[in-house]
Amino acid sequence: MLFLFKHLFASLALAITVLLAPSRVESAPASSLDGLDHQARSILARATPAAPHFVVYSDQWTGTTGPPATSQVKGWNVFVLSFLLLEGAWDQAQSWTQLSASQRSTIKSQYAAAGIKLMVSAFGSTDVPTSSGADPVATANTMAAWVKQYQLDGIDVDYEDFNAFDAGNGKAEQWLITFTQQLRAQLPAGQFIITHAPVAPWFAPSKWGGGGYLKVHQTVGNLIDWYNVQFYNQQDYTTCNSLLNTSGSQWPKSALFQIVASGVPASKIVIGKPATTADASDGFIAPATLAGCISQAKSQGWSGGVMSWEFPDASSSWIQTVRGSAFPV
Ligand SMILES: *[C@@H]1O[C@H](CO)[C@@H](O)[C@H](O)[C@H]1NC(C)=O
Repeated sequence: MLFLFKHLFASLALAITVLLAPSRVESAPASSLDGLDHQARSILARATPAAPHFVVYSDQWTGTTGPPATSQVKGWNVFVLSFLLLEGAWDQAQSWTQLSASQRSTIKSQYAAAGIKLMVSAFGSTDVPTSSGADPVATANTMAAWVKQYQLDGIDVDYEDFNAFDAGNGKAEQWLITFTQQLRAQLPAGQFIITHAPVAPWFAPSKWGGGGYLKVHQTVGNLIDWYNVQFYNQQDYTTCNSLLNTSGSQWPKSALFQIVASGVPASKIVIGKPATTADASDGFIAPATLAGCISQAKSQGWSGGVMSWEFPDASSSWIQTVRGSAFPV
C-alpha cells in the first residue's frame, strides 16, 4: 500500500470526533448469531473463511471513528484496518482503539453477522522492519497481543521493506519466516487469520537472491491463510493477460497463473488492485474491465478473490461490479 494518511491530522480529527460523537453504535440491531448457543457462536466466529476472499483496506480518514456500517461494505467479506506499525496503531487501526470496548464489541458482532471478518494490517509502506532492525519474535508477540486485546479476526502482513528484499541476502525472507512462525504460535490456525500482502514481483522466480516470496511460501505457506497480492505500483499487470497469464519482462513469471505454476495454490491468491488511478501510481484496471479478467480467471480454475486499496474509493458498488457474474453478491 503506497500511502499512509496524514497521521497528525487523522489523530486530531479522531480525538475531536470521539469527544463529540453521540454513541451512534449503542443501539445496534441484534446479531444474527444471537439465537445460537455460546459454543456454536464461538466456533462460527472463529472459523477461517474459505475462498473467495473480498478484502478491502481502510487507512484513509473517512470522517467517522471506527469502521463503516456493514451496509456500506456489502460485497466485501474482509475489512482491514490499517496500519499497525512498529510504534503502535495508526490511522484506522488507531481509530478502532479509540472506540469504547462496548462499541467495538457491537461493531464486531454486526460485522460477524454480515459475514465480514475484521482484521488489522501491519507495517504498510511506512515501516521497514528488517532494515530498521526490528526483532521478528518480539514484534510478532507485540502485534499478536494487540490483535487479541482488540478482538480482531487476524492480521495481515503488509511487509514493504524493498531495500531488504533487493539486498538479495535472504534477510528479508528469514525475517518474514520467523515473524510468521511466531505470529502463528500466538494466533492459532482456525482461530485467527494470518494473511500476507506481497507485491506480485516478489513471487518472480530467480529474481531474488534470498529466494523471494516463493521461499517464504515454501517455508511457512502452510501458516498463511492467503496472499493479498499487490498487482500494482510495479509498472505491469494492466491487462488481463499480464495480470493473469504472462507478466512483463521486468518481473517475469509473476502473473496470477504463473505464480500458481510456481507452486502457490490458486485458492490462496487474492488479486489486489487499486480502486482508482489516484489510489496507486499504476496498475489500475477499470472495474468493469477487471470484472472481465476475474471472470476469465475463474473459468481457468481460480477462485481466490479480490483485494482493493482502499476504502471508501473501494466501495460496495466497486466490488459488486468487479465480482460481476463470476461471483455475484
Ligand atoms: C490466458 O490463457 C488462457 C489459457 O491459455 C486463454 O484461454 C486466455 O484467453 C488467456 N487470457 C488472455 C487475457 O490472454
